[in-house]
Amino acid sequence: MLEKIEKSDFKYIGNKLLHWYEKNARDLPFRQTKDPYKIWICEIVFQQTRINQGLNHYNNFIERFPDVKTLADADENEVLLYWKGLGYYSRAINIHKAAQQIMNDYNGIFPHEYEEILKLKGVGKYTAAAVSSICFNGRIPAVDGNFYRVLSRIFADDFDISNSKAFNYFSELAHLILPENVGDFNQAMMDLGSEICKPKNPLCGECPLNQDCIAFLTNKIYDFPVKTKKVKAEGLELKYYFVHRNGQFLIQQRKDDFIWKKLYEFPPEISEELIPFIKSVKTVNHKLTHKNLSIEIYNVEVDSEDTWKHFIAENNYIISDYESSHQKSFPKPLENYIGNYHTAYRIL
Ligand code: ADE
Repeated sequence: MLEKIEKSDFKYIGNKLLHWYEKNARDLPFRQTKDPYKIWICEIVFQQTRINQGLNHYNNFIERFPDVKTLADADENEVLLYWKGLGYYSRAINIHKAAQQIMNDYNGIFPHEYEEILKLKGVGKYTAAAVSSICFNGRIPAVDGNFYRVLSRIFADDFDISNSKAFNYFSELAHLILPENVGDFNQAMMDLGSEICKPKNPLCGECPLNQDCIAFLTNKIYDFPVKTKKVKAEGLELKYYFVHRNGQFLIQQRKDDFIWKKLYEFPPEISEELIPFIKSVKTVNHKLTHKNLSIEIYNVEVDSEDTWKHFIAENNYIISDYESSHQKSFPKPLENYIGNYHTAYRIL
């Protein structure tokens, strides 16, 4: 496809989109600024979280950490706390490290060049392109799933988006329609992709590009984008022991970083002395992006004060309770478990 259309000029498509954006841009708090710090944070927050779901978190985060230095100086656990509810906690750990990188390697000044922005921890091509174009007039399309969908439909292009070359392919395609103002163009593509050119039930009647969209004109909107490979989620079994007594329970910060990096968890094992106190077990299924978790949580109600004290003395667990657990970040299924425990415990 690319070869066939390479010689044509499709810039008018990008310009049409910009005209639409001027009238229809969503009114979002981060659109009032070109502060690269704020744009960077918003791109990380909204990469995997819908705008409506993440907006409060974003505002609270910016209020507490208004600039690179405040974030770099903060305690990692506090950063994690402010990320609570957004999931993908490794992103919070990475932005904290990247803020320190900016302080140490760039004298606290957010780098201006795409290639430099790309060196920041946790920053990929999409984020670097977005920050560079929105804040520094970089001419780089911020290619993501929206670009794949919009471009493949406009050009009725059947390039397989699960192919490892898809990113480069659609970047080239995007360059064909790229107007002068790339920052607005990138954000217009995001708005068009999420509000109009949606995966299901796209609003083609309202689309500013419907007369340029080959998929629409040939009634093949659902044939695009083409995706052959499905990433298969891997199954994983976990076991936890919810060891509690009089409203208190034991936790630790995770050391493993293959999932749930640095979040808090219940003890993953117990000693024999606690086995008689196991009252029940609950299995919770939980999906992560590439993993299907099956989590067994044993309810260990320690009726003996001596055993409780002995177990605590022998291990390094932190003693927590419902109230203080709010100051820490837990994986969602464990947070739910604590909530249920609290409700049940209050009734007793
Ligand atoms: N999603 C991620 N970044 C965005 C932005 N700048 N505008 C709209 N949606 C977004």
